Amino acid sequence: MHMKTRLSIYTGTGNSLWVARQLVAALPSTRVEFMRYPKKSFRVEADAVGIIFPVHIWGLPARVIQFVNHLKVKPGTYLFAVAVNAGQPAATLVQLKRLMAVHHLPLSLGYSVVLPSNYIPWGGPGPLAAQRQLFSKARGRIKEIAGQVVRGEHHKVDRGPLWQNILFSGIYKLSFRHVRAMDKKFWVDDKCNSCGICAKVCPAANIKLRAGRPSWLHHCEQCLACLQWCPQEAIQYGGKTPRYERYHHPEVHLRDMLDQAKANR
Ligand SMILES: Cc1cc2nc3c(=O)[nH]c(=O)nc-3n(C[C@H](O)[C@H](O)[C@H](O)COP(=O)(O)O)c2cc1C
Ligand code: SF4
Ligand code: SF4
Repeated sequence: MHMKTRLSIYTGTGNSLWVARQLVAALPSTRVEFMRYPKKSFRVEADAVGIIFPVHIWGLPARVIQFVNHLKVKPGTYLFAVAVNAGQPAATLVQLKRLMAVHHLPLSLGYSVVLPSNYIPWGGPGPLAAQRQLFSKARGRIKEIAGQVVRGEHHKVDRGPLWQNILFSGIYKLSFRHVRAMDKKFWVDDKCNSCGICAKVCPAANIKLRAGRPSWLHHCEQCLACLQWCPQEAIQYGGKTPRYERYHHPEVHLRDMLDQAKANR
């Protein structure tokens, strides 16, 4: 079967891009596009469309909601999703399936893939050996997902345990509207050398350099790209990050992240 697949991806530290690249290697005629923050409807012309994104605060990042709200596809397009996370996908894929249903976009597959955590306010990504195990497990899982996509299968979406979904979906709903202003907790220490990479890497154009130092503009998406990709490790969030290790996927590079940001300018 000849099938053209488009993967729309969003990433803060490259995990979701890496998942997309694994899928490209396993699927025929597949291309990756960075997910923009669309202001009006747009059409994706393909036989299959995959949406690949990180779980944020036990739910969908605002960008993914905006993307789905404006996505148009031709009738019969096969739709699937991968929610990349650090072990707690909660009800994110249920949320996605429901949102897509509102827009007559039936989601055939929704899988959780667990990779190292980039949520540094709660700690670093964990020991290298544990990270490698996650990469290896994810490779196998992504191959299975690719097989199901090629065969056009339909399955129930992945979800966490019920009590977690109820509790965490509640926290998600309470925190969602505050995400834009959560950048008030960012600060910069004296290792900053004014290179400007934080401003360039931000997919939301939420950083301006003022007197050579980053200043956050309060339309943040909390992807943490600025903090995680600062070459000097000068960006901090709250009180604990000075002692936590930074993370980005080892096979994803700054130039990939700059491409994502450029796609949004
Ligand atoms: C603001 C924020 C919230 C997060 N919330 C969750 C969460 O609720 N559950 C989870 O398993 N991982 C959570 N994570 C971790 C990411 O989903 C995970 O590290 C993912 O692999 C990052 O993908 P990326 O590199 O493509 O951005 C969160 C990360 C961030 C930055
Ligand atoms: S990326 Fe880091 S070092 Fe460069 S301007 Fe931003 S905070 Fe300063
Ligand atoms: S300011 Fe930082 S955390 Fe917020 S959207 Fe930009 S890169 Fe992501």
